[in-house]
Amino acid sequence: MEKRIYNFSAGPAILPEDVLKEAQENLFALPGVGMSILEISHRSKTFDNVINEAKEDLKKLLSIPDNYTILFLQGGASLQFCMVPLNLMPPKNKADYINTGSWSKKAIKEAKRAGTVNVAASTEEGNFKRIPKQSELKLDPDAAYVHFTSNNTIYGTEWSSEPEVGNVPLVCDASSDILSKKIDVKKYGLIYAGAQKNMGPSGVSLVIIRNDLIEKSPENLYSMLSYKVHAGANSLFNTPNCFGIYIIGLVAKWLLKNGGLDSMHKLNKEKAEILYNCIDSSNGFYKGHAEKDSRSIMNVTFNLATEELEKNLIQEAGDAGFSGIKGHRSVGGLRASIYNAFPKQGVVDLVDFMKDFQKKNS
Ligand SMILES: Cc1ncc(COP(=O)(O)O)c(C=O)c1O
Repeated sequence: MEKRIYNFSAGPAILPEDVLKEAQENLFALPGVGMSILEISHRSKTFDNVINEAKEDLKKLLSIPDNYTILFLQGGASLQFCMVPLNLMPPKNKADYINTGSWSKKAIKEAKRAGTVNVAASTEEGNFKRIPKQSELKLDPDAAYVHFTSNNTIYGTEWSSEPEVGNVPLVCDASSDILSKKIDVKKYGLIYAGAQKNMGPSGVSLVIIRNDLIEKSPENLYSMLSYKVHAGANSLFNTPNCFGIYIIGLVAKWLLKNGGLDSMHKLNKEKAEILYNCIDSSNGFYKGHAEKDSRSIMNVTFNLATEELEKNLIQEAGDAGFSGIKGHRSVGGLRASIYNAFPKQGVVDLVDFMKDFQKKNS
């Protein structure tokens, strides 16, 4: 079998080895079915079980209350930038957005096509190094919803708890920290996430929506853009990404088997701490991008003194079997994405490598 290397990619990203092995084993024919998941009808009893079990397991993992609906949609998180305003903004046609990075900005850009956007806070000044404080939020109590990005994949910042928004529905893009920790779903009106970071392959996104908000979908909205239509069809209005939903189901089972989201959160914090400790104890050789109290436990971003050094580190790390640590072009530097499935040993090995690199280059 081909040897696997350490994959620090921001997404599509590493998946649990057990999940890949199970999918590989059963790809030719699902046990007792005699056909591949790639071949079966989405209208079959078998697929009904796949989708319903995935929903049940996600419900257990996140303690999703009964008055919420779980959807598996296509078009990535980017389509949610459009679906959220199209479905939830009317009739007020105004919403609050908190701008904490490139993905928030993209969400804002799309929302502006549907109505009025009030940017309730922005940390753009200073290149998105931090999450705003509650006291900075200028919220409109009459907004249709408040949108925030729980983890900023590019800048490596993460909300440690959700913003307080009173009775206005809270909408969250949780693409890069979904299932990394428990959240109190009751606090949210809608949560969406592309699967390809912490949940599965690309091409499928998860939407968790409070049932009263489903009723807000305008009747004249195109069917494929309507939460109400997708919810009424159990995400089977059209042919879904069957394979993607199957993998999300396997990942959910893997999480349940490994102690659920509290265990995962503990491990994620340990992994992140190993990396941040290395950065903090490097006497400035490595400089973290995010302010300490805004640091992400999923995407660790840092810079070196010169672009030349950064280039050399990326090159040498690649040669040593650490893939995907080049930072996003808008921050430069390096980014180690250490999602749920990323092994702790990989972080320990990267830190050894970084210490060695520092010795050789200082
Ligand atoms: C926080 C966040 N939101 C949205 C997106 C866009 O996701 P997609 O490519 O699934 O549209 C990403 C992708 O990296 C992301 O990290």
